Amino acid sequence: MFETLQAMPADAILGLIAEHKEDPRPEKIDLGVGVYRNAAGETPVLDVVKEAERRLIDTEDSKAYLGTAGNAGFNAAMQKLTFADAGSEDRLLTVQTPGGSGSLRVAAGLIMRATDNATVWVSDPTWNNHVPLLGGAGLALKPYPYYDTTHHEIRAEAMLETLRALPRGDLVLLHACCHNPSGLDPTEDQWRQITEVVKERELVPFIDMAYQGFATDLDSDAFAVRHMADNVAEMIVSTSCSKNFGLYRERVGTLSFLARDHGTRAILASQASSLARTIYSMPPNHGAAVVSSILCDEPLRARWHEELDTMRDRLRDMRQMLHSALAVKAPDHDFSHLVRATGMFCFLGLTAGQVERLKKDSGVYMVDSSRINVAGITPGNVDYLADSIAAVL
Ligand code: LMR
Repeated sequence: MFETLQAMPADAILGLIAEHKEDPRPEKIDLGVGVYRNAAGETPVLDVVKEAERRLIDTEDSKAYLGTAGNAGFNAAMQKLTFADAGSEDRLLTVQTPGGSGSLRVAAGLIMRATDNATVWVSDPTWNNHVPLLGGAGLALKPYPYYDTTHHEIRAEAMLETLRALPRGDLVLLHACCHNPSGLDPTEDQWRQITEVVKERELVPFIDMAYQGFATDLDSDAFAVRHMADNVAEMIVSTSCSKNFGLYRERVGTLSFLARDHGTRAILASQASSLARTIYSMPPNHGAAVVSSILCDEPLRARWHEELDTMRDRLRDMRQMLHSALAVKAPDHDFSHLVRATGMFCFLGLTAGQVERLKKDSGVYMVDSSRINVAGITPGNVDYLADSIAAVL
């Protein structure tokens, strides 16, 4: 029967991993998938994760099922990390999901169960997989203006104007920090304005926070989530531990709801449980147990903060280094947005043709949109990279 199917094109982001791997050129550079790398180009397991894993091996006493909502200790610790004291505890629900993507998928299923006529508005542009993932689950999606590709800044006014015209009950997918792909986030003031519009229009914020700790610090990066939670009637928040704990392949994330009231929270808990059961039954424990033991042990938590700071500082330094190198090698072009962005990503502002030439001529790999993962830059390759970029400008 399967001969009726056709092969799919490679994923726009994941396909680059294989392409880069097959390239024999030693000078090749991978600026594709959003995975942190150190100055040696490696993605080591965090020391604090290794320590938590050692402890887990010694103390874990069962592999019996945990249940559809996952690890309760993890859920409680992650709710605190996400919301701190914002939102009211008896309206907040947090369940463990298989990564941020699993969280988005469960959220999509619950939105579909709750309503059949809401549209989810996504930033233009947004993460490459938001549209296939949420649209594939059956949701109707439309774009709101977000990024000005000419001036490399946020189109805050146009975004607010679009939100002001949305029908009540529509959802707005927002990136809490380190916007993927642009790296540019609203200021706290702009978040306040967005919150006002969401409240006025009775929209439902759906916040994706995959990079908490990668922009400024854990608390500042959660500003949007916490400010909304203190001001809106209901909201959805997806988080991921892939980046800030480096647990990419363990698939650790959460889905949280701020419900209108305690009764709705209970209904959402049972709905989330039944939906998880129909997709993957229950999430895996290992990564969640590791995160939980780090968050619940002060010395481990402090060590995690240090490792997170190191990752964030390196990303900032690499942006600055590329910016300085480009100022010398391509002085007629303005790349100042590189240092205004935060987190893993930013656009170079190249055409798809220039991106293709970078790949062919220099073995430099990035998404077609010219989004780069700055973690792929090192002091050793930055000059070659800047030369390669200058050559295609
Ligand atoms: C990215 O945007 O590169 C990451 O979020 C990884 C992925 O799954 O696409």
